[in-house]
Amino acid sequence: CTEHPFGHLIDTLRSEQYEERRYFNLLKLSDVRYEKLPFCMRVLLESAIRKCDGFYIKTDDVSSILDWQMQQNQAEVAFSPARVLLQDFTGIPAMVDLAAMRDALAKQGVDPNLVNPRCPTDLIVDHSLQIDYSKCAIQSPPTPTDESHGAAVRSPAGRPSPRGSSSSGHSSCSDAPSGRSAAVQIENTPLLCPFHLQPVSEPETMIRNQEMELIRNKERLQFFKWCSKTFKNINVVPPDINAVHQVNLEYLCQVVQEGEGFIYPDSVVGTDSHTTMINGLGILGWGVGGIESEAVMLGQPVSLTLPQVVGCKLVGTINPLATSIDIVLGITKHLRQAGIGRKFVEFFGPGVQQLSAPDRTTIANMCPEYNATVSFFPVDDVTLQHFKNTSTDHPLVVLEDYLKAIKLFRSYGDQSDEPQYSEVIEMNLSSIVPHVSGPKRPQDRVAVTCMKEDFINCLNEKVGFKGFHISKEKQATQVPFLHEGAEYNLAHGSVVIAAVISCTNNCNPSVMLAAGLLAKKAVEAGLTVKPYIRTNLVPGSGTVTHYLNTSGVLPYLRKLRFEVVGYGCATCVGNTAPLPESVVDAIKQGDLVACGVLSGNRHLEGRLCDCVRANYLASPPLVVAYAIAGTVSINLETEPLGVNSEGKDVYLRDIWPSKEEVNHTEENIVIASMFKELRSRMEKGSTFWNRLESAESALFPWDPKSTYIRCPSFFSKLVKVCTPQSIEGAYPLLFLGDKVTTDHISPAGSIARVSAAAKYLQSKRLTPREFNSYGARRGNDAVMTRGTFASIKLQNRLIGKTGPKTLHIPSGQMLDVFEAAERYQRDGVPLIILAGKEYGSGSSRDWAAKGPYLMGVRAVIAESFEKIHRNHLVGMGIAPLQFLPGQNADSLELCGKERFTINLPQELTPRQQLTVQTSTGKSFSVTALFENDMDVAFFRHGGILKYVARSLLL
Ligand SMILES: *[C@@H]1O[C@H](CO)[C@@H](O)[C@H](O)[C@H]1NC(C)=O
Ligand SMILES: *[C@@H]1O[C@H](CO)[C@@H](O)[C@H](O)[C@H]1NC(C)=O
Ligand SMILES: *[C@@H]1O[C@H](CO)[C@@H](O)[C@H](O)[C@H]1NC(C)=O
Ligand SMILES: *[C@@H]1O[C@H](CO)[C@@H](O)[C@H](O)[C@H]1NC(C)=O
Ligand SMILES: *[C@@H]1O[C@H](CO)[C@@H](O)[C@H](O)[C@H]1NC(C)=O
Repeated sequence: CTEHPFGHLIDTLRSEQYEERRYFNLLKLSDVRYEKLPFCMRVLLESAIRKCDGFYIKTDDVSSILDWQMQQNQAEVAFSPARVLLQDFTGIPAMVDLAAMRDALAKQGVDPNLVNPRCPTDLIVDHSLQIDYSKCAIQSPPTPTDESHGAAVRSPAGRPSPRGSSSSGHSSCSDAPSGRSAAVQIENTPLLCPFHLQPVSEPETMIRNQEMELIRNKERLQFFKWCSKTFKNINVVPPDINAVHQVNLEYLCQVVQEGEGFIYPDSVVGTDSHTTMINGLGILGWGVGGIESEAVMLGQPVSLTLPQVVGCKLVGTINPLATSIDIVLGITKHLRQAGIGRKFVEFFGPGVQQLSAPDRTTIANMCPEYNATVSFFPVDDVTLQHFKNTSTDHPLVVLEDYLKAIKLFRSYGDQSDEPQYSEVIEMNLSSIVPHVSGPKRPQDRVAVTCMKEDFINCLNEKVGFKGFHISKEKQATQVPFLHEGAEYNLAHGSVVIAAVISCTNNCNPSVMLAAGLLAKKAVEAGLTVKPYIRTNLVPGSGTVTHYLNTSGVLPYLRKLRFEVVGYGCATCVGNTAPLPESVVDAIKQGDLVACGVLSGNRHLEGRLCDCVRANYLASPPLVVAYAIAGTVSINLETEPLGVNSEGKDVYLRDIWPSKEEVNHTEENIVIASMFKELRSRMEKGSTFWNRLESAESALFPWDPKSTYIRCPSFFSKLVKVCTPQSIEGAYPLLFLGDKVTTDHISPAGSIARVSAAAKYLQSKRLTPREFNSYGARRGNDAVMTRGTFASIKLQNRLIGKTGPKTLHIPSGQMLDVFEAAERYQRDGVPLIILAGKEYGSGSSRDWAAKGPYLMGVRAVIAESFEKIHRNHLVGMGIAPLQFLPGQNADSLELCGKERFTINLPQELTPRQQLTVQTSTGKSFSVTALFENDMDVAFFRHGGILKYVARSLLL
């Protein structure tokens, strides 16, 4: 055991309140540059120092990070996250590979129990392998209207749609008040509820559905259960506990981790697309592809270019009328306009303290919207408070003392020790102005403070999106009418429908809570809602009702006559109960522009009700406010909402819940009860999972009949010593153009009836109905290899038409790509792929590198590679070779039918130029895109799996 290169930094945290903890004290570096580093870079540095071993992580990595000021955007550094997060979809192949490695080592006489993940791994069975029902569709049957589609296609519990599926699963979680621009913006990145409860009572259909799903997936679940019992360092979260991002936020994240005798900051890479959410809690983390996550699990660090870090300085005070959603969208918009471009963002400045933990995680989740890699909020008092009621196993004093000891705890009081960022963008939070939109289209936004003016303008304007053309003399019309024995007046601007709907806003409990707290204060102040106004409360799910009830505001909403009328998007699509006849008559009689105010996400003129001509979208608390006011023609800042029982004016500001109140209720009641609920679910597990039987053996008992789980052939010829050979006389399997995506290489969708994979499955006696998708069969290498390049959109220049076929050059036959590859392999002929620019773009997909490897592809020669896919190729032992600048297959006059020989020198070095010779006598140079010694080692060994397996053989 050699001395740790940074052993001199080891220090001990002591206090009477807890046991001693050891840690690497970065302050002992006594380097002035440390305190100038952004906090997220300090996390990178700590990890590099602690994990420095001279191979995976070198002292150069440490110096580069420390020298971040000079090295940003240049140095390539390694990062060993504290843990890896996998969901079942991507977890299956990784676990199958580990199980296969156990087999391979056992065959060589090595104890298979040595094979375990090296980095703590959490595997969350949440995508349930196949999602074939939609929760929202159960709650509210899909309606034929397009406006409701947002809700109808929502995946269960707001779960992200599985990686690789089409984008049709976007969430309906969009923002009411800011209208169209926001809706468009959110279509790509769902404004996902960082925290929300599981439904308290699930419809029976759903429970049945879940059971069926579990039965259908039994084989794979049994495998996962075997994994959870067999592997050390792996934690399997059983199905039906919760969605990945939530379990991650509420259960797995620790702020400070403990392992190998040290405490250290938590950090994570994950295959869940919402991994970046965690940065809102001061935990550095981002999403990676399947092979990368597998590599991290096997102990390899993630390699990244030392990022630039944009400091986003928040100043000013948030307008009290702004809801969480206004804030999140306001900040997102600001960052988008600033143009972040793949950098890290770190928030600082006095305004940060005004953002609650859910606000932060939502902003962090939105970072694909503004192109940031991560949006980091260092741990501060708000974060600690958030963890007070939660899962963390450490007493908060340990976290606080440790983070303070290494200056990872943020206090915004002292501005003298601000880090130095690559650039700083400032945002004044008071610029976030709450809006409503309407009267006819969601994209017509009106600042709340200008509402009265705007409405009067609309009366004046000629008929159009913003006009009703009511003549001056008729604008003052008042129509008296009787309702339930009392007389009231209707005028232009009178509110006749008010609906608090959370089909969009249940994303963030705080906005519905704000509506409830406002109702409570309004009732306490003696305000009422006029009985002729059709008021509705449509909570979106039982969950929302549950937390409104738990936090004690439901009775007050009821007192204001906001009764729960049902779930789903009833009111958005015009299903509200008819207005009282007397109201309709009064509207007709005065030709009045009556108003509807709702907090849905879409609306159309006349949608709520034919006779309601002005429809506004507003945040839930503003809907309650306008209902109390009874009109939209009011300046809520200067005019009272109503009078109390003593005849005194009550203004909106008197009853508007402060952000602190909302936050307090949210943290202490809603989120706390969610944690409790999740914990108890975790402890109970699901009955199905608990009953599930699985083997008790160090080696997995592969079932030869299984068509889902199969021992992959990566280790088929594992020998102790690796002798990399040159690539001689290789045929191009395919000759491709530009922008070949991972979807071309390894399609994720359904398995075509006429395909190599179909033939295989039929040979296993499956009918086409039982084929399932490629995504679901990732644990079966036979299916996945057959599915490689099986895209009907593949354009292969060797055959000159679109489709999953290629030319078997020696015989001149046109075959399925897999069959051609199989024939070449049988004849011992190595293969390469010729391609154009950006080979492997699109979403990262592990089988896009594993498949070609198992087909016998040794190298891809392309004009350029997508970066993550390049990593994957190297990880699987395939050489990514790049044509020299300005050259390509055409400029070199390659026809794609020649044989290629690539000489590999004994001493391969990163980014070396290699010579390629063709059977037609041509010779050209390519750059081998190995970025570092680690890449070279992986390539030499035939990929990281063999590399790790061999390291255990020695
Ligand atoms: C933020 O903007 C408000 C209103 O425009 C202004 O009063 C305040 O001084 C600004 N704050 C800072 C720190 O610039
Ligand atoms: C994000 O990056 C992509 C590609 O790099 C670019 O096309 C897009 O315009 C960027 N978007 C923003 C909001 O900067
Ligand atoms: C609200 O909670 C109370 C007490 O826990 C319960 O009796 C009541 O049924 C709940 N109401 C709703 C609508 O969930
Ligand atoms: C939220 O409330 C908690 C306590 O209830 C408090 O400690 C925290 O500072 C508050 N956060 C914000 C952003 O107001
Ligand atoms: C959460 O913490 C707050 C303040 O520390 C406390 O009042 C509340 O009871 C806690 N809630 C739960 C469910 O533990």
